Amino acid sequence: MNRLLTLFILVLINFTSCKNETKTTISETKNRGLIARKVMVVSAREEASKIGVDILKQGGNAFDAMMATEMALAVAYPYAGNLGGGGFLVYRMADGKKGTLDYREKAPLASTKDMYLDENGAVIKNLSTVGGMAVGIPGTIAGIFKAQERFGKLDVATILKPVIELAKNGYIITRKQETRIAHYDSMIRAVNEKEILYNNNLKADDKIMNLALAETLQRISDNGRDEFYKGETAKKLVAFLKTKGSIITLEDLAKYEAKWRDPITFQYNDLTITSIAPPSSGGVCLTQIMKMIEPFDLKDFGHNSLKTIQVVVEAEKRAYADRSFYLGDPDFVDISLKTLTSDVYLQNRMKNFSFENPTPVDSISHGNVAGYESDETTHYSIVDQFGNAIAVTTTLNGGYGSKLFVDELGFFLNNEMDDFSSKPGEPNYYGLIGADANSIAPEKRMLSSMTPTIIEKDGEFYMSVGTPGGSTIITSVLQTILNVHEFELTMQEAINAPRFHNQWLPDEILMEPNAFDINIIKQLEALGYTINESRSPIIGIVDGILMLENGTLEGGADKRGDDTAVGF
Ligand code: GLY
Repeated sequence: MNRLLTLFILVLINFTSCKNETKTTISETKNRGLIARKVMVVSAREEASKIGVDILKQGGNAFDAMMATEMALAVAYPYAGNLGGGGFLVYRMADGKKGTLDYREKAPLASTKDMYLDENGAVIKNLSTVGGMAVGIPGTIAGIFKAQERFGKLDVATILKPVIELAKNGYIITRKQETRIAHYDSMIRAVNEKEILYNNNLKADDKIMNLALAETLQRISDNGRDEFYKGETAKKLVAFLKTKGSIITLEDLAKYEAKWRDPITFQYNDLTITSIAPPSSGGVCLTQIMKMIEPFDLKDFGHNSLKTIQVVVEAEKRAYADRSFYLGDPDFVDISLKTLTSDVYLQNRMKNFSFENPTPVDSISHGNVAGYESDETTHYSIVDQFGNAIAVTTTLNGGYGSKLFVDELGFFLNNEMDDFSSKPGEPNYYGLIGADANSIAPEKRMLSSMTPTIIEKDGEFYMSVGTPGGSTIITSVLQTILNVHEFELTMQEAINAPRFHNQWLPDEILMEPNAFDINIIKQLEALGYTINESRSPIIGIVDGILMLENGTLEGGADKRGDDTAVGF
């Protein structure tokens, strides 16, 4: 077959049946992601995106698809998808109403400020990161039910049916999954004191079934939300946790509630950006950084140019310095959100910025220091056929959370307690140091960096975006928005583009390795910046949906992971 004919057929296939779901007629020269006319789901696994789309096809909306996608991720992406973790939802209804749901984990009733310290006041290694004491009260089931009950259209049994089938019939292990499972295998075996379902015998292309999870989901489907918090599942979970030294009780589970919270909304040029408020730091930091960089002409400086990197890095430094000192659970600490996000305050913060040299970190704030957080979270974005859009980020915290796998129930438990500051001023396992605002207290939510974000332009939905990546979440979301808005990249190009990150301390710029112009790196170093290309082979795994001018949707799925966009 001659090459021209092959090319023609490939283009035809792409334009008529992307993932066998999508048809489009727009002609594009740019590198676009999947184009769909009506609906789009982008998540960390093709199976989860497909199940989300199936639910939409059955007449469900974004909130029904949320429940299905989130649970399908728990089946097919146990690294971060979960029943044993928590997350945040940002939504924009078709009529423009916006809101957020916080289903972040909470500290158990029996927790104390010093629970991870020994008798000398030193942090006990690993106690907040692996095993029973690391587990916070899971919020995911409460979250997906709260959102679906309020806004969904289908019944729960219909939504969970394909997920239960996926758990029963199995899914295929990818190469990336094989590598991840092998990487964590010895730790998972040690914590569970045995081999579990996920072990290093699993190879790419193997099929894996999780019958215990299928049964758990069936009970939740039959009995509703309370099955997880008060029913047989709750009892089994607490009995299991007790054998692992956890202090979580049935009372803790019974008292858990997901919470509707006011979003953080701000303007950046002609964009209206809506993100999550504390207990995630995402929305506050994103607001601060974007308002600090807004006066600069990034478009003129150029994408990933010296000047752009300098401005963004210096704004990030200042925002992260504030994050570690001021932010925590708003139900427990007073946060001056108005001041922290005000133009006057932020203009003042950038007053000592100079292109001549880096602002010394110790001149920026008297606050405490944040190190790198774990980066094993996951994000999905959905736009439905009714015009509703959601952005959801969910996590177990570390990869496979606390590594504790509840055999009988078929899921991993989080180690979210490590997102608290165990001891103000001292780094935890991931290098995290915080202030009193994020100290441990019974029923308090630990500070997060998750940044599910929805962007509007001219009053209409424009973009839904988010990512895993611990403290790099905020800066990855930021760069994706800037890549589309300032540098006119497509959704897919914006996601593909190399990313950098600064979080005040450590005093360095993380860069994805071998991805940036070496001359720019040299110039940054000559100015006095420390560049670290070895810390992180990838920064973030961004998934997003962009509304194009002709009204179609572009799904951007990050190939740094197995992420996939499905739509029609
Ligand atoms: N566990 C990561 C975060 O919440 O930011």
